[in-house]
Amino acid sequence: MSLEKCHLVDLQRISDARGHIGVVECNQHIPFIVKRVYYLFGVTDGADRGSHAHKELQQLIIPLVGHFDITLDDAFHSKTFHLNNPTQGLYIAPGNWRVLKNFSPDALCMVLASENYSEADYYRHYDDFVAAVKRKKTGS
Ligand code: TYD
Repeated sequence: MSLEKCHLVDLQRISDARGHIGVVECNQHIPFIVKRVYYLFGVTDGADRGSHAHKELQQLIIPLVGHFDITLDDAFHSKTFHLNNPTQGLYIAPGNWRVLKNFSPDALCMVLASENYSEADYYRHYDDFVAAVKRKKTGS
């Protein structure tokens, strides 16, 4: 199941009297080379983001500021993660429907992605996603 491949990742934190540095090293903290970085900020109060799945894209989501929840669903099981630590990210493997919600007003969510943007990589409808996962499972 794709959900089993998703997990929280402890990133490197370098701290001294001046504060902290957070570090993400490709092929150490994440199993992909970053091709794209994007970030969510100024999320409208009560708004959700996501509500889609990706076919091939791998991502690491880091709560640089504030906190939010991410629910992952691989069409068989679902799990919710609370992200509130800027040196801990959530690795999301392909084939997981995700919904990001409960953003704090100050939330700044950075996403490291394995591929450039491609609309063709999205499942935008939950029913299509579930049907594709089940087709893949039965090999039909
Ligand atoms: P989407 O991935 O659906 O964002 P969210 O899941 O947070 O709601 O993207 C919203 C819109 O922005 C959609 O029209 C695609 C566009 N977009 C890009 O053009 N490039 C990107 O790198 C991203 C992430 C989105």
